[in-house]
Amino acid sequence: MRPPRTRRRHRAARPAALVLALILFGSLYAAFVPSTQVAADTGMSGQVAEGKALYQVTCSSCHGLNGEGSSQGPTLVGVGAAAVDFQMSTGRMPMARPAQQAPRRPNTYSAEEIAAISAYVASLGPGPAVPNSSQYDYSTLTDDEIARGGEMFRTNCSACHQAAGVGGALPNGKYAPPLTGVEPLHIYEAMRTGPQQMPVFSEGAIPDEDVAAIIGYLKTMEEQPTLGFTLGGFGPVTEGLAVWIIGIGGLSLVAVWIASRGALKR
Ligand code: HEC
Ligand code: HEC
Repeated sequence: MRPPRTRRRHRAARPAALVLALILFGSLYAAFVPSTQVAADTGMSGQVAEGKALYQVTCSSCHGLNGEGSSQGPTLVGVGAAAVDFQMSTGRMPMARPAQQAPRRPNTYSAEEIAAISAYVASLGPGPAVPNSSQYDYSTLTDDEIARGGEMFRTNCSACHQAAGVGGALPNGKYAPPLTGVEPLHIYEAMRTGPQQMPVFSEGAIPDEDVAAIIGYLKTMEEQPTLGFTLGGFGPVTEGLAVWIIGIGGLSLVAVWIASRGALKR
C-alpha cells in the first residue's frame, strides 16, 4: 500500500508547487510592474502628450496630423529631437507660408514648448537627439585642434558656406546662410540633421570631437578681425571681377600710354 500512496502524494505536490511558484511570481511581478503598465496604457509621458497637442495646433497643417508629412511639408518621422530644436530655435519653423527655403527668424516659442514638441517628434521614430554642451565644448581646444577644425571646414563646408563662412547662393534660388553668430548648439544640430540642401554629417563621418574643432574654428574666426581686404569674402566671382577691373583696366592704360608715345615718335 505504501508505495502507491507516496506516489500519489508526490503527483499532487508537483502541481501545487507549480501553482505556488506562479502565485509568488505573479505577485512579485504585480509589485514591480504597475507604474510601467500605466505608462504603457496611455502610450506616452506628459511631456510627449503636451508636445503632441502643441504640434497638432502649430505644425500638423503642413507635416500631417501624426508627422507623416503632406504636400506642404516633409514627414518628421525619424528626423529626431535635434532637427525640431534646430528648426524652431532658429525661428525657421513653424514656417509662415510655403516658400523656397525657410529663413532664419526670431524664435517666439519657449524652451519648454520646443522641448515638448521635440520629445513628441522623437517618439515618432529614432533620430539624432539634442546634444548636451559637453558634446560640442570647444573651450579647451588647442591651437592645433582649431587649425584642424579649419581644415575640416574647408573640406566639408566651404563649398556652400564659403571659406570665410559668409554663406553663398545655391541653385534654384536657395542659399547657404552665413555662419557668423550662430550658436554652437545650432552648428552641432545643423551638422547632425542636415537642413534642406545641407548634407547630414553623421557621428560616423565626423565624430563629436571634430564637430567641436569645427565650431572652435568658426568661433575663432569671428573673434579675429579679418586680415587684409576680403572683397566681401564672396570668393571667385568678386575676386575675378577685381582681377578683371584692375588687371585689364591697367593693361588698357599701359596700351594707351604706349600708343600715345608711339604716336609722338612718328
Ligand atoms: C507652412 C507649412 C509648415 C508649417 C506650419 C511647419 N512646417 Fe516644418 N517644414 C515645412 C517645409 C516646407 C519644410 C522643408 C523645407 C525647409 O526646411 O525649408 C519643413 C521642414 C521641417 C523640419 C526639417 C525636417 C528635416 O528633414 O530635417 C522640421 C524638423 C520641421 N519642419 C518641424 C516643424 C515644426 C516642429 C513645426 C511646428 C512648430 C513646423 N515644422 C511647422 C513646412 C512647414
Ligand atoms: C551642399 C551645401 C552645404 C554644405 C556642404 C554645408 N552646408 Fe550648412 N547649410 C546649407 C544650407 C542650404 C543651409 C540652410 C538650410 C535652411 O535654411 O533650412 C545650411 C545651414 C547651416 C547652418 C545653420 C545656420 C543658421 O543660420 O542657422 C549651419 C550652422 C551650417 N549650415 C553649418 C555647416 C557646416 C559646419 C558644414 C560643414 C561640416 C556645412 N554647413 C556644410 C548648405 C550646406
